[in-house]
Amino acid sequence: MALLDIKGLTVRFDTPDGVVTAVNNVTLSLSRGETLGIVGESGSGKSQLAFAVMGLLAKNGRATGSVTLDGKEILNAPPSVINPIRAQKIAMIFQDPMTSLNPYMRISDQMAEVLVHHRGMANAQAVAEAVRMLDAVKIPDAAGRVRLYPHEFSGGMRQRVMIAMSLLCRPEILIADEPTTALDVTVQAQIMTLLSDLQRDFGMATILITHDLGVVAGFCENVLVLYGGQVMEKSPTDPLFAAPSHPYTRGLLSAIPRVDQEGEELDAIPGSPPNMTMEPKGCPFAPRCTYAGEDCEEHLSPLTEFAPGRFRACNRSLEELS
Ligand SMILES: Nc1ncnc2c1ncn2[C@@H]1O[C@H](COP(=O)(O)OP(=O)(O)O)[C@@H](O)[C@H]1O
Ligand SMILES: [Mg+2]
Repeated sequence: MALLDIKGLTVRFDTPDGVVTAVNNVTLSLSRGETLGIVGESGSGKSQLAFAVMGLLAKNGRATGSVTLDGKEILNAPPSVINPIRAQKIAMIFQDPMTSLNPYMRISDQMAEVLVHHRGMANAQAVAEAVRMLDAVKIPDAAGRVRLYPHEFSGGMRQRVMIAMSLLCRPEILIADEPTTALDVTVQAQIMTLLSDLQRDFGMATILITHDLGVVAGFCENVLVLYGGQVMEKSPTDPLFAAPSHPYTRGLLSAIPRVDQEGEELDAIPGSPPNMTMEPKGCPFAPRCTYAGEDCEEHLSPLTEFAPGRFRACNRSLEELS
């Protein structure tokens, strides 16, 4: 049985302009210890997918479908069910560490509070454990710096603190939502190496959410490509990079920045992401797809396995794309 099983997850928001369908009928499963990348341009529904799982949707949002953790339904679960899961089973880290850190509390107090509350530790023991965890995320002089406030750390160090916080309760699943997007390139690489090491040492399943397909290459076993809230392609990472099966994935791949282009905006896929208030009848990518025919505006073939473990949703055959 999968650790996390998501079936037909749909997230809609009521807005003054109509209903926004942010996530559209997404099905995926995550095994124990698996690393899964969820990739797509900004606005493709990545964060809302994670928020729905965590029960963190905005008030105007509603989720339908099913999300089970260890076989137990958690989608739209009441606080008494989802709160303990959020703290102890599934942890989430964000692009901006201050989303999770309290600017007015010393790191020692914030981390100890979690351990006292959720793991019943005494305060001194909790602070010692906090120092151990700061050590694990390679914060130099952890014992000395545990007493600092969040603003006394650099951006990269603050991200390490947030990662340490998220791992305190030894979650089975870590969801990292664009964890390196706000950092400069060298620090990004350090944080990804750290996440990789922690994933190996702690063995938690990890969902890495990113707009940058390049980031998943060294980290994820499997990749799911989202566009307009729908799954376009799902595959083990290596064959996806070797032979992307979807026109959108190909566009993302050619948008991976190269070292000699650092700092340049890459926009390899012409056109802009879809207006999510208009749920497309056909393929959401059709208006930007060079391979699209009239049929693509009308309907989209369901996600279909075309090679072992590889799935694609595209009306064009692989031969037609070559
Ligand atoms: N509270 C909200 N009300 C209306 N629309 C929202 C709300 N939150 C997110 N959305 C919309 O949902 C879509 C998916 O957003 P999101 O999941 O945040 O994208 P990303 O892939 O960049 O993480 C976007 O079109 C966004 O504008
Ligand atoms: Mg996002």
